[in-house]
Amino acid sequence: MQKQWNKNSWRTYPISQQPIYDNKDHVKKVESEIEKLPPLVFAEEVRNLKEKLADVAEGKAFLLQGGDCAESFSDFSANNLRDSFKVLLQMSAILTYATSLPVIKVGRMAGQFAKPRSEDFEVKDGLKLPSYRGDIVNDIGFDEVARKPDPERMLKAYNQSAFTLNLLRAFATGGLANLEKVHKWNLDFVKQTTKSKFLEIANGISKALDFMKACGLGTKNNSEFEQVDFFTSHEALLLNYEACLTRTDSIMGGWFDCSAHMLWIGERTRKLDEAHIEFMRGIENPIGVKIGPKTDSDYVIDLINKLNPKNIPGRITLITRMGSQNLRYNLPRLIKGIKDNKKKVIWSCDPMHANTYKSDNGYKTRSFDRIIEEIEAFFLIHKQLDTFPGGIHLEITGQNVTECVGGEQEIKEENLSDRYHTHCDPRLNANQGVELAFKISEFLKTN
Ligand code: PEP
Ligand code: CO
Repeated sequence: MQKQWNKNSWRTYPISQQPIYDNKDHVKKVESEIEKLPPLVFAEEVRNLKEKLADVAEGKAFLLQGGDCAESFSDFSANNLRDSFKVLLQMSAILTYATSLPVIKVGRMAGQFAKPRSEDFEVKDGLKLPSYRGDIVNDIGFDEVARKPDPERMLKAYNQSAFTLNLLRAFATGGLANLEKVHKWNLDFVKQTTKSKFLEIANGISKALDFMKACGLGTKNNSEFEQVDFFTSHEALLLNYEACLTRTDSIMGGWFDCSAHMLWIGERTRKLDEAHIEFMRGIENPIGVKIGPKTDSDYVIDLINKLNPKNIPGRITLITRMGSQNLRYNLPRLIKGIKDNKKKVIWSCDPMHANTYKSDNGYKTRSFDRIIEEIEAFFLIHKQLDTFPGGIHLEITGQNVTECVGGEQEIKEENLSDRYHTHCDPRLNANQGVELAFKISEFLKTN
């Protein structure tokens, strides 16, 4: 018999990856302030996403989830956010055409501030300091003051999330989401590439748009052409912050974590008898779970029984992040376990987190080719096993950064220092993101 859940029941469980604050009273004071602040997202929006994700689970829609590895206070600006929103929309237009399915757009945005770390401490030139755990916890600068966890940062993260959501809502319903405009940006991209296949795909989209216009769709004030639904997500890592924003829905009941529409559990915090699973099982939001190379299928079934005992489609997204080699070996076994137990899940591919390495000149980077390889392996395996490859999960920014090597721009290790801005893991830049979407289209056409 499971113990009764409440939004603080996780506090009696073992917990990983949390900051150690000096002043517990200060933490409590901040928590009670956040508890009084308005929700960032609303239950009805979360239910709307859940319905769309149920379609993904049934093979009737595709999930595109992406954004920063770690949002930061210093890089926040309307222009940066607009550019990241833009690239997701551009990719979405290409993927809609490639899959002939609606693409559900979920940003790693408006709350992606807390980071799990493989080491609790960082040592540089003999100085040992607590690791950077994301701007919601401490500062990335390497000195004692910067690295000290400060609970006030939770309020700053809340405020920045509210500003971000305000902009995202405006972008999603304002002129920025106009499909013809989005397609024009893609045509501009294609003009710079040497890949004739991309041009073919872009021309196909142009023709489809012309056809729709000829049918009377796409004229001014047609909401399908002018607006998009855009949702937010982040890793539910810092549980006291998440609990403070967990509210009951006054209309239909149930508990919703109103910090984001979708939350996910990271690879390092998903032990069945620990706090993160306890917290997540009680909220109504759709839940992602990162699935690394060592995950076995019995564990996944136990996890689903805990998080989704009623087997509701769209509730669970399994986000595999294994690297293409491990994926070829492990994904078929996981898929078999899910099929044998008749579980309803979305399969999503994170091709980023198992493909990180240190370049010769000391940068944490990823290769565009390895990223593509993992995505292609993911699509092929699902095709062979007759299951639906439901989505992709990316670390990406609209800025022209040089953090991942490769792609048409031919970013090399010696270029990484040019514009390496990430606060945590290396992100695809806007061109690499659009190129990736075209590559997926090309792959789907020929496979
Ligand atoms: C992340 O998504 O930034 C992350 C830390 O992923 P994972 O939990 O899969 O390592
Ligand atoms: Co990351």
